[in-house]
Amino acid sequence: VQIREATVHDLQGMQNANLTNLPENYTLKYYLYHALSWPQGSYVATVQTSSGEERIVGYVLAKMEDDNNDDPNAGPYIPHAHITSLSVMRTYRRMGIAAKLLRQALRALVESYGAQYVSLHVRQSNKAAIHLYRETLKFELVEIEHSYYADGEDAYSMKKDLKELV
Ligand code: ACO
Repeated sequence: VQIREATVHDLQGMQNANLTNLPENYTLKYYLYHALSWPQGSYVATVQTSSGEERIVGYVLAKMEDDNNDDPNAGPYIPHAHITSLSVMRTYRRMGIAAKLLRQALRALVESYGAQYVSLHVRQSNKAAIHLYRETLKFELVEIEHSYYADGEDAYSMKKDLKELV
């Protein structure tokens, strides 16, 4: 499995993985917006198929936030990143791929865009992702956002300071 920066050529494969792995889906235009605005911020995990083609088995889609609207109590604008989506295909899970994707993306978001912290939302029932964020990557819980998801499930809003890097 190889981990590398995502390019516009990967967006279709990222969207396919997202459709397979998560109920929160996005238009190709939204993927393109990420890739064109923050070309260094998103990563893919790939494998070589028997026919020699590259197949995407995981991705992290990330962006910078343009404002502090996600935190009404925040003072002046602080550059910060947001993890829009992350997933790994089922047969490739528990091999450390998600942790690697995230660490690489976070490093790039700091180096390329000056991100001082990163935020994300996760379903409160999502044990695997919560373990990854809280235990492996040391994110902190900021608050619970009630009925954040379309089906009414609550979200954990989480945040990680990037001043001391991962
Ligand atoms: N239960 C408990 N812990 C788990 C589980 C699980 N099912 N899966 C992974 N972990 C732990 C690992 O043991 C590891 O812990 P450690 O560092 O203490 O050893 C840690 O989480 C990281 O494991 P990875 O192997 O890096 O994670 P993986 O590549 O399996 O991907 C992911 C985790 C992305 C959550 C995967 O299960 C997945 O794609 N799930 C479906 C999609 C999803 O839920 N995505 C996140 C939504 S939130 C968002 O997109 C912002």
